[in-house]
Amino acid sequence: MKVGLAGIGFMGWIHYLAYQKVRGVKIAALCSRDKKKLAGDWRGIQGNFGPPGEKVDVAGMSIYSNIDDLINDPDIDLIDNCLPPHMHADVSIRALKAGKHVFVEKPMALTAAECKRMVAAAEKSGKQVLVGHVLPFFPEYAYARKVIDSGKYGKVIGGSFKRVISDPLWLKDFYDPARVGGPLVDLHVHDAHFIRLLFGMPKAVISQGRMRGDAVEYCNTLFQFADPKLTVSATSGVINQQGRPFTHAYEIHLEKATFQFDFAAYTDAAELAPLKVLISKSKVLRPDLGDGDPVRGFEAEIKEVAACIKSGKPSQILSGELARDAIVLCHKQSESVKKGRAVKV
Ligand SMILES: NC(=O)c1ccc[n+]([C@@H]2O[C@H](COP(=O)([O-])OP(=O)(O)OC[C@H]3O[C@@H](n4cnc5c(N)ncnc54)[C@H](O)[C@@H]3O)[C@@H](O)[C@H]2O)c1
Repeated sequence: MKVGLAGIGFMGWIHYLAYQKVRGVKIAALCSRDKKKLAGDWRGIQGNFGPPGEKVDVAGMSIYSNIDDLINDPDIDLIDNCLPPHMHADVSIRALKAGKHVFVEKPMALTAAECKRMVAAAEKSGKQVLVGHVLPFFPEYAYARKVIDSGKYGKVIGGSFKRVISDPLWLKDFYDPARVGGPLVDLHVHDAHFIRLLFGMPKAVISQGRMRGDAVEYCNTLFQFADPKLTVSATSGVINQQGRPFTHAYEIHLEKATFQFDFAAYTDAAELAPLKVLISKSKVLRPDLGDGDPVRGFEAEIKEVAACIKSGKPSQILSGELARDAIVLCHKQSESVKKGRAVKV
């Protein structure tokens, strides 16, 4: 499968690293506006995890500075859209119309209407749109997903999820609804997607929080389901101190087990409370989740993309429909904060 990579920033680099580990898929074309990057010098790329950018061998790759030239390259099967969020919908729809499969980074798009148009464009073209919701492939989340699916500890009956970052002062568009979408659409969307995956679509949300301009800065949400006993909540957003750039955590309740983990990156150290599985008779299990290399989650994600495109079967994890639902939830949560009441989904 030949991939055309659009957007060589932090995620373009991480995807590049992951593609090197996946059989049967290769990057055959690149699109960037930066001549240095097109020549293979990716050393300026820096992100908040993974190795810094390096020099990349671009020999044999087609090189484009214009996105339409990439989309129209007849050799390319899949467009990997690592462009900024405000470009996701337009570029993905144009790629689908040109007969390409699309793998687009999260958030699928900035609005639910754009996501719906992307799903419709995929249906019309007979090609797949897959969305880079990598969280279910991160070890703690993959473990929870697989063990819940197995039914080993009974049904899942609730969960609380946390994702909070320090204000990303270097991202000037972060709170702009027309370019990035703020903490809900950019950050919480990971948990919204995971909640949708584990529990189905909520019927209402009630969120309370604080605003920054038009975007929710921080909020707590209760998700209400058809089954009133399902107890699901999330805490998401931004704090105004720089000392803890990132934290995420969950506690997931099953009939016969509780899963719990917590990770926080502070400016002076990272602290991990590794996954614990509490089961009957006061037993605490500590599953071995591997070496913690974050790029492995992206390898697993890209393997899923390749398998779905090869088999023609839609992904149960990365489908456009699930990613669209996650964006719907983020906007309903935002509406709930603004209106100060529960909002139907
Ligand atoms: N899954 C994750 O964990 C994760 C983490 C970080 C970012 N992301 C997502 O990945 C996407 C990209 O984020 P990023 O951090 O890589 O951003 P980035 O700014 O590092 O990279 C985007 C790149 O696109 C390029 N670009 C912009 N317009 C272009 C055009 N017209 N033609 C060609 N290139 C163009 C920019 O120059 C930049 O190099 C976003 O949707 C973001 O939310 C996902």
